Amino acid sequence: MKSLRLKTIASFINLEDKVVDIGCDHAYLAIYLVENELCQKVIASDINQNALDNAKQNIIKANYQNQIKTYLSDGLTNILETDIDTLVIAGMGTSTILHIVKTAKNYPIKKLIIQSNNDLSNLRKQLRKQKYYLQKERVVYEHGHYYVINVFTKKHTPYSISEILFGKYDSLHKEYYVSLYNELEKINQKLSFKKNIWAKLKIFTKKILLKKYL
Ligand SMILES: C[S@@+](CC[C@H](N)C(=O)[O-])C[C@H]1O[C@@H](n2cnc3c(N)ncnc32)[C@H](O)[C@@H]1O
Repeated sequence: MKSLRLKTIASFINLEDKVVDIGCDHAYLAIYLVENELCQKVIASDINQNALDNAKQNIIKANYQNQIKTYLSDGLTNILETDIDTLVIAGMGTSTILHIVKTAKNYPIKKLIIQSNNDLSNLRKQLRKQKYYLQKERVVYEHGHYYVINVFTKKHTPYSISEILFGKYDSLHKEYYVSLYNELEKINQKLSFKKNIWAKLKIFTKKILLKKYL
């Protein structure tokens, strides 16, 4: 598996974790985990039949049918196993991710490893309401994009406003925070002063908070 993003996700998984990769697509992550003995067994699921067929083919090719079980499922709704404690939800938007996390409410989930494509502050805020607290964060630069990988657990952890807005500081990727700052600056420049005074004030506050990360 070439993807640095998926390898970084894998680095947050421990051998004893009982993992479901929700939205597995080609099952690259599940295969990587088993191949590298990072997990003994993995569940790979997807809502899309074509994606799941691709996953199944790749699993058969790699000969891991005994270690990787597949499910066609919206989140965890069709998954029969109850012995699950870690969810990987990657490559989707925040609203889909929050929907998927809701389907897990009757499972003893200890850890969420999430890579959302958008709206990260809302993701952190909403998950905190569901008592999932951000523990670690890693920024990955791949194919011209920054991907943010968040690890949430049930361990109660206080947040600063900056952490809700911009996440936990990843010292390896200072340029990611510079890119966030530049985005805020661009939005600010598009807003006319008279019409958007409150929006401008909000951006100004965010910029002050973000400056500490730069
Ligand atoms: C862009 S792909 C990401 C694949 C892989 N997780 C990754 O990060 O490379 C998103 C996958 O999530 C699946 N998906 C979207 N909504 C889902 C849901 N509610 N439950 C399960 N899978 C879902 C899609 O069918 C698709 O295969």
